[in-house]
Amino acid sequence: MAGNWKMFKTAAETRTFFEAFRPLAAAAEHCEIVICPPFPNLAAAVESAHGGRIQIGAQNLYWEKEGAFTGEVSGPMIRAAGATHVIVGHSERRQYFNETDETVLKRTVAALEAGLTPIVCVGERLEHREAGQTKTVLFQQCREGIARLEERKFSRIVIAYEPVWAIGTGKTATPEIAADAHGVIRGEMRARYGEGAAENVRILYGGSVKPDNVKSLMAQPEIDGVLVGGASLDAKSFAAIVNFTS
Ligand code: PGA
Repeated sequence: MAGNWKMFKTAAETRTFFEAFRPLAAAAEHCEIVICPPFPNLAAAVESAHGGRIQIGAQNLYWEKEGAFTGEVSGPMIRAAGATHVIVGHSERRQYFNETDETVLKRTVAALEAGLTPIVCVGERLEHREAGQTKTVLFQQCREGIARLEERKFSRIVIAYEPVWAIGTGKTATPEIAADAHGVIRGEMRARYGEGAAENVRILYGGSVKPDNVKSLMAQPEIDGVLVGGASLDAKSFAAIVNFTS
């Protein structure tokens, strides 16, 4: 269960969140919990998590380890800050910051080299879905991205299916639509890496996940977890999501 805070919260607000969230999430032993704050708050989040079971992730990274790349942050820097995960290729990065399948792949490899678990995002836009191109887009993003990883690297990633039309819009994909897309992605991974690897890879659903729809999404065997934006900003609502009971 991963929370993507996007460009929200200061360091002080991060500490306040964790104080409220830690006790509420203490009993959620059925899942891994990752929270991804903005870069300047990674240290505050790591500290506030107190080495407990809540893991911290960044929202992006650059593929070089260091150098003259003003404004960028590398995998080793994120790792050194105490984070364990990093989101890669989020649709907002693809849409507003010119991320391509190629740069997503470079970031994924860099994350793995730094010892981070990349949460690699794929997903179609509304016009693709309306034109019946969802599968084609997912195939393309998988083939040009994660399917190019060596097998041993593939086993260390998490995939997030995030239909762009469902992000921040309040329009959740129905559990069936989401599960269908997860099946497409898993099928592509099965063809590339074989049955075992495809079964083991975790595919999260993201896009307007809320406390009141998490249960029906998680009831789908294809959906292994969720990547939550807006509803992860509030300690009670994210706790209600991680504490869902099947
Ligand atoms: P949302 O965002 O839950 O606010 O729709 C999801 C995401 O972009 O990861």
